[in-house]
Amino acid sequence: MTGDGGDFPLVDERLRLIRGLRERLERAVLPLATSLDGRRFTVQASLHDLRLRPGGYVVLDTGAGRRLGLLESLELARETAVDLALPAEGAQGASGSSRIAIRLARGEGRLLDADRASFHDARVEHADPQAVAAWLAGAGAPRSPLPVGTLSRAPDVPYAIDARGFDRHTFFCGQSGSGKTYSLGVVLEQILLRTRLRVIVLDPNSDFIHLREPRPEVDAQTAARWREATAGVTVHGQAGAAHARLALRFAELDPSAHAALLRLDPIGEREEYAELVDLVTGERPDSIAALDERAAGSADGHRLAVRARNLGVDGFSVWAADGGGSLLERLEDDDWRCLVVDLGSLGGATEQALVSQALLGRLWARRERREPVLVVVDEAHNVCPAQPRDELTALATETAVRIAAEGRKFGLYLLVATQRPQKVHREVVSQCDNLVLMRLNSSADADHAADAFSFVPRSLVHEATGFTLGEALVGGRIAQHPAIVRFGARVAREGGADVPADWA
Ligand SMILES: Nc1ncnc2c1ncn2[C@@H]1O[C@H](COP(=O)(O)OP(=O)(O)OP(=O)(O)O)[C@@H](O)[C@H]1O
Ligand SMILES: [Mg+2]
Repeated sequence: MTGDGGDFPLVDERLRLIRGLRERLERAVLPLATSLDGRRFTVQASLHDLRLRPGGYVVLDTGAGRRLGLLESLELARETAVDLALPAEGAQGASGSSRIAIRLARGEGRLLDADRASFHDARVEHADPQAVAAWLAGAGAPRSPLPVGTLSRAPDVPYAIDARGFDRHTFFCGQSGSGKTYSLGVVLEQILLRTRLRVIVLDPNSDFIHLREPRPEVDAQTAARWREATAGVTVHGQAGAAHARLALRFAELDPSAHAALLRLDPIGEREEYAELVDLVTGERPDSIAALDERAAGSADGHRLAVRARNLGVDGFSVWAADGGGSLLERLEDDDWRCLVVDLGSLGGATEQALVSQALLGRLWARRERREPVLVVVDEAHNVCPAQPRDELTALATETAVRIAAEGRKFGLYLLVATQRPQKVHREVVSQCDNLVLMRLNSSADADHAADAFSFVPRSLVHEATGFTLGEALVGGRIAQHPAIVRFGARVAREGGADVPADWA
């Protein structure tokens, strides 16, 4: 612009010409894909009428056939196009060529079929749901399917995870209210219905205490099937007469748990610690009261009993009543299919940590039996946090880390759920080969999750910031390809305490 008003019409005209031309060029970008190895492809497409989305499915017509692909990323790109008809810059009125910046979409993806032929400039189309459904029902079907919902980016196409993938550890994560516990329930229900894998649930919010009860809206046939599948489910809790009592015996804990519970340092407080070991071996007192009785007459023993009282340990509701069974004894029975441990019914965080440690410790101690069991830990940041807040939690975390690192070969498989991977001990996170990622708060959280779970494409992890309730990215051994899914309905009643919503 020169400041001379006479230039404006010319500028306007030129702008109109360029805009029109840019749009024509941008619309003319062909949807094309190229693959060097027949496994992955790159794609370009016009931004106009763009139907492609990361996590969506595409059909690539290579000339030699039609192939199904998963689009993993799609970004806005800028390119310089040259137009021969447009007057060159500065050469007003003269003919020549001009460069013009155009915008288009560029992305990458993976081929879902086993064909390894490379191709160039294949025509790309948004895959219609029937094509995806046909593939999932045929070549793409999991060997041991657990139907959990539908594909989010191919609406109404049923989606099943692969039960065989649960021989690896699994990480469920997503912000509060994203639907983790609900979806975890959907997965558990399918495991109970369609596999023989035993399951233990550490349930801090009493979400699974109604696991045996079908919802009122399920049909009679499903309800009957559900009751049959859950005949071997027992709920151990301290609320509800229908449940088995959640109890532990003092003597069945191992010495490290005793020391942590009584905050005893085996080195710094050698005498008291030795006395404790003496007292809990041999006759093995069931409770703190019994320990106190046995300690009578010994100064160290008395100090121990006082310590237990001062710490409030003697008042825990979890101690087994005379003649009552304990959770660890129940574990030794052969007749259970699923144990729900209602940690939410306990008096506080220390008792919850005690039960978690006792259970994980016992599972680890009996690992040589090699009996496959899936250990579900909801709100895992309380059981194996990144930074344990006390000795007992540190012990539980240590056991969880050991199971995460070595449990697999003994059939101990973890399924942990939490809001952000940063909240759980990194050695548990790093051992998880399966991911169910629900909505995340921010792209900073997505970055962290993408670093922690590098087996799923970073670009798909970032899609999680836009997920709605019940939507998740599923990846790892439980999924043939990283899939964005929408979890379906539960069969069983949900538990948990309802918060009244009539305050506004
Ligand atoms: N797929 C779904 N269909 C219908 N309702 C759902 C679905 N997923 C979750 N909900 C409902 O949304 C609410 C929040 O879900 P949920 O408790 O599973 O979240 P969360 O991720 O476990 O949260 P938090 O981290 O706070 O425990 C619940 O009331 C649940 O019943
Ligand atoms: Mg939850």
